Amino acid sequence: MADLRPDSLKRITTPEAANDFINDQIEAIKNQVGDGKVLLALSGGVDSSVVAALLIKAIGKNLVCVHVNHGLLRKGEPEQVIRVFRDQMDANLIYVDAVDRFLDKLAGVSDPETKRKIIGKEFIDVFADEARKQDGIRFLAQGTIYPDILESDGVKAHHNVGGLPKELDFELVEPVKYLYKDEVRVVGKQLGLPDNMVYRQPFPGPGLGVRCVGAITRDRLEAVRESDAILREEFAAAGLEGKVWQYFTVVPDFTSTGIKDGKRTDDWMVIIRAVNSTDATSATIEEIPYDLLKKIRDRIFAEVSGVNRVLYDLSTKGPATIEYE
Ligand code: XMP
Repeated sequence: MADLRPDSLKRITTPEAANDFINDQIEAIKNQVGDGKVLLALSGGVDSSVVAALLIKAIGKNLVCVHVNHGLLRKGEPEQVIRVFRDQMDANLIYVDAVDRFLDKLAGVSDPETKRKIIGKEFIDVFADEARKQDGIRFLAQGTIYPDILESDGVKAHHNVGGLPKELDFELVEPVKYLYKDEVRVVGKQLGLPDNMVYRQPFPGPGLGVRCVGAITRDRLEAVRESDAILREEFAAAGLEGKVWQYFTVVPDFTSTGIKDGKRTDDWMVIIRAVNSTDATSATIEEIPYDLLKKIRDRIFAEVSGVNRVLYDLSTKGPATIEYE
């Protein structure tokens, strides 16, 4: 293995250790890029957010952050990226509304791997388009972390910018590449990022796209997004945020019969999934209290249109996987 964590880098578990790391990285970034411009795909996930905050401290407006809204983000995420980075940290942030572009490409596509490929390719295309509009970019920052290097030869698959076209041949800036996830969180906290960004649950690169099972339609995507927001709100209110490893809702692509105001309905169903894991290779289910489940069900029925059934998934990994496709 060529790129191993240096022995001199001690585990980062305390605010003091995080401060030392931050100061060292600011120096290292300044040395590497000088007064050059750096591009970063800022998803709002922990890793890219920490990289953004570090680079903003080191080089300010010479960091150009690009946030691509592909329409598959959770409710409130694009707004939070803008609030935290543009409004609070005064970052040079380009917000790209690519929702129609992605959803048009995905229309009618039901095969999971084809969906993933389209999302990945479209992401690179949108990002490359933005990169070409910028003058004088020499560097590309990435939120590669140490497990990415150990597990996949340094290619951060879900960041999706590894496959940029040849002419966009940037030098990489990867300030957290020797850190484990828990260390990235300690650094993020110390950089002043909000808790719900720093301690957020894992979120797949293709986003809500893999939870809107089958061919994505706008109505089911909205049902996934709204029900997911309700689930997250209720988990937070019940003190479960940060305690349950991953929790979300899923909307399959088939309907079932229901009844409303004396009339039969033919509507979607929402599945609640909450799992605990340490490394995602296996998972047990979180035993959600029944009162909380019923509260979430009632809110979904009251607030999410086109849904007439709520289910609770009891499946462990294996034989199930965490996501549905
Ligand atoms: P599964 O469904 O395989 O998921 O049990 C294990 C973990 O990986 C996440 N996941 C993904 N992450 N791109 C990602 O970046 C993907 O295509 C993808 N598919 C699954 C999943 O959320 C879980 O944490």
